[in-house]
Amino acid sequence: MKTESPKDLVPKFFDETSQTYDRIVNTTTFGKDKYWKKEIIKKIPSCKTILDLACGTGILTFQIAEKFPESQITGVDITESYLNVALRKMLPHHKISFLKQDAESLALEQKFDCIVSSYIPKYCNPKDLIMKCMNHLKPNGVIILHDFTYPKNRIVRMLWDVYFVVLNVLGYFMPKWRSVFADLPKLIRSTRWLEDYEEIMKSCGLKTKRQSLTWNCSAILTGIKKI
Ligand SMILES: C[S@@+](CC[C@H](N)C(=O)[O-])C[C@H]1O[C@@H](n2cnc3c(N)ncnc32)[C@H](O)[C@@H]1O
Repeated sequence: MKTESPKDLVPKFFDETSQTYDRIVNTTTFGKDKYWKKEIIKKIPSCKTILDLACGTGILTFQIAEKFPESQITGVDITESYLNVALRKMLPHHKISFLKQDAESLALEQKFDCIVSSYIPKYCNPKDLIMKCMNHLKPNGVIILHDFTYPKNRIVRMLWDVYFVVLNVLGYFMPKWRSVFADLPKLIRSTRWLEDYEEIMKSCGLKTKRQSLTWNCSAILTGIKKI
């Protein structure tokens, strides 16, 4: 029997959840998603073109647009229903285009000063994703990746494990979120995204930096292309 790859989880997690995603991500992270996104935005340099990969419902995309109103922003996601929610939030002054594409086979007609992504690394093949980012990055450009990590501290880990047991039970009352609450903890425990992406970024000549957030429950990895 074929084992499920992280990418197989993408339609399972996202095909049915777009309408409630914004509320669920905020409540299930106890509002930390907002703080994490603020930390991501702090790392974006003032620049002309920004790509938000796996933009989902556009939570981060619109925050970037508010901070950098002069920048041209592109949001890309593989799930149409998430993009539809993002499109409904668009206001006339926003300089954002939303496109449906698979980040691992990204083919856009332009290069960007900054590529940012929240919650995609664990679903993708690190080499494929970084190669696509490199092909779309301008000289001196920056790649900023954020995702969940499994905490290292024994007590935080215990609390984290218990919390996901509670979410798993809650999933029985929220059928559309059931597989997310059941399978996400396994994926986060098994992913080595931070180490793997950093290694590949370095092999591509990027200067990397890590930031751990909220007792190592998530992390930001930044890679700067020098030239
Ligand atoms: C948890 S949501 C995060 C959305 C948004 N970045 C945020 O922080 O709110 C993950 C998103 O990744 C998208 N995604 C997963 N794999 C992808 C891929 N290979 N290419 C493009 N989007 C992908 C899903 O469709 C989903 O919208």
